[in-house]
Amino acid sequence: MKISSSILGIKNDIQKIKLLSNTETDYIHLDVMDGIFVDNCVLNYEECLEISKVINKPLDIHLMVDSPKKYIDNFKELNPIYITFHYEINDNIDELISYIKNLNIKVGLSIKPQTDIKNIYKYLDKVDMILIMSVNPGYGGQAFISSTNDRINELYNFRKDNNLKFLIEVDGGINEINIKNLKCDIAVVGSYITNSENYQEQIKKIGG
Ligand code: DX5
Ligand code: ZN
Repeated sequence: MKISSSILGIKNDIQKIKLLSNTETDYIHLDVMDGIFVDNCVLNYEECLEISKVINKPLDIHLMVDSPKKYIDNFKELNPIYITFHYEINDNIDELISYIKNLNIKVGLSIKPQTDIKNIYKYLDKVDMILIMSVNPGYGGQAFISSTNDRINELYNFRKDNNLKFLIEVDGGINEINIKNLKCDIAVVGSYITNSENYQEQIKKIGG
């Protein structure tokens, strides 16, 4: 399993972000929130641009925004490995998937805890990754919603039965205990790492 470390808890501390990037984390996860799709508003493009200058790991960008198109046009400049947007927006999902793919960026589709997994089945052969939220999007440091495991298993089995290739990423409330039961390819981990004194040690503890 790969680890994508969220900088949300240390977003204003460039030295700490640098330290995190110098661990064995596989990716750096940037949470972009617009104050509309979620009530929190953090990490605009200019801030992410500054952050990206001190990061030596591939960027995994999670757009919790209502209208992703203009964000994609900005964030593509950071050469991320993934751009993920949400299923629950009022926009054309198929068009956005193609748009990101045509930029040669891997595309992720994210789903909130209350949304039926079956709603995204029709996109599974088009995306590189599904990001299953294990907390309600908007804030770091929340508790992992335990019913997420059933949702992951449902998606995992569907992928197997249909011979699909997308990756499964899980985001929110992950720690050294609940990570053991996660059937996913990438775990996004925020406060478990950034609330500690030794980022590398925490990443080792969760198996990174
Ligand atoms: C929540 C974000 C997560 C979060 C992860 O809306 O998408 O990426 O920052 O942080 P922890 O691990 O603290 O839940
Ligand atoms: Zn996230």
